[in-house]
Amino acid sequence: MAFPEKFLWGGATAANQYEGGFKEGGKGISTLDAITGGSAKTPRMVTYKNVLGEYESCESGKSLPDGAIGAIDESRYYPSHIATDFYHHYKEDIALFAEMGFKCFRMSVSWSRICPNGTDQINEEGLQFYDCVIDELLQYGIEPVITINHYDTPMYLADRFDGWSDRRLIDYYLFLCEILFNRYRDKVKYWMTFNEINYMHQWGKNGVHNMDEQHKYQAAHHVFVASAKAVKLGHQINPDFKIGMMIAYIPAYPLSSRPEDVMEAMEFSREQEFYIDVQARGYYPPFKLKEFERKGIHIEKGSEDDNIIANGTVDFIGFSYYMSTVCAKDKNRLTYTDGNQLLAAKNPYLKTSDWGWTIDPEGLRISLCQLYERYHMPLFIVENGMGAEDTLEHDGTICDDYRISYLREHIAAMKKAVELDGVELMGYTPWGCIDLVSAGTGEMKKRYGFIYVDKDDNGNGTLERRKKKSFDWYKNVITTNGENIE
Ligand code: BG6
Repeated sequence: MAFPEKFLWGGATAANQYEGGFKEGGKGISTLDAITGGSAKTPRMVTYKNVLGEYESCESGKSLPDGAIGAIDESRYYPSHIATDFYHHYKEDIALFAEMGFKCFRMSVSWSRICPNGTDQINEEGLQFYDCVIDELLQYGIEPVITINHYDTPMYLADRFDGWSDRRLIDYYLFLCEILFNRYRDKVKYWMTFNEINYMHQWGKNGVHNMDEQHKYQAAHHVFVASAKAVKLGHQINPDFKIGMMIAYIPAYPLSSRPEDVMEAMEFSREQEFYIDVQARGYYPPFKLKEFERKGIHIEKGSEDDNIIANGTVDFIGFSYYMSTVCAKDKNRLTYTDGNQLLAAKNPYLKTSDWGWTIDPEGLRISLCQLYERYHMPLFIVENGMGAEDTLEHDGTICDDYRISYLREHIAAMKKAVELDGVELMGYTPWGCIDLVSAGTGEMKKRYGFIYVDKDDNGNGTLERRKKKSFDWYKNVITTNGENIE
């Protein structure tokens, strides 16, 4: 059998895209509550009040003007406010996950549900919601896998401190970690400190208003220190905790065998490896320090920071895998296509999804080998999938063969990595195991789930849940521990 007996099959979600209940149970407002919907062609917008107190918006991913205060404009629609309403459907959803045989469930907590301002105030009602969810999972023998921060920052921290640009966020984040680690010490074993750490400075999602390189890397440094401190704290509270990092991993191929194209692909990979090096090896890699020197980027560090980072390395590397990309020195030789929070380049040998993301199952095996051979650390595929539009037939069925085929090929590739390459893989949690709001476009029609949720891009729908064809297929994959993927 390729996969170990305790292999963690499951599914993945994030509070800001799934939970809803954005103002319920004492929750404070988070940065992601102020991001509108969009589409493949129109960007999501961040709404705020300008210095005159007027509502304005700017494209998510751009710097906010000076003095902007994140704000919810009641005249606009925000898909994540209800999302697909895990807040009120968690029992029903967890029962469905259990029916599929999930061994684990990846979810994130909403920081502002637990600490409404992100500072020292604790919202007991918010914690009680997570108590119920975690107990419900455990009742079915499903291991919770918790992402402590999946892109959302309490708005107060974004406005008052300019998010992670400010070092004080480290302590606020640790305050949250301490609450979680103590409260769930005997209930949750698997944690990840930050989602897609290599992208979290984008979009102002984490409340960093100014997104020039100096600010981004300074914010990243604070995140590294926060993560390392969290790892240490977690291990003190329970030495059995497995605390991982999480990165969006995209393997990059050179467009040709020209050495300069190969170097270009290497540079692309380095930008990802930088984040893993710091968190898994415990130091800033030399290539990044040289880049900082060249660009005049100066990272303000505390005297203990290097030590903290060295002593807070993670137990595993979690990563999302959706696609690969292509690199060339001469950019004119590339054709661009959409991708996971970046404009990627088209590979002439590979197809793309309806949203333009390159489909590359073999790239998953390549990624697993690259990561394992570089870091010799257990890996966890915590996101994978293909966003696709589903058709609800008259008889209520959803025949998502395209999803089955995408996942089947990726599982086959991951099986090879385990069986043939000896990669130590802990588990697999396909993204959006139940339909949720797309992070990139804010759409509902870009679906990933095994479970369909009746809701459209304008917020209409009953939120009724329905099993798609892939539901039984995945159930069978789990039952046979990945032996039968047909
Ligand atoms: C990852 C994120 O980037 O990709 C998720 O961690 C996101 O939050 C997922 O939803 C898929 O991207 P999208 O844009 O299709 O939702």
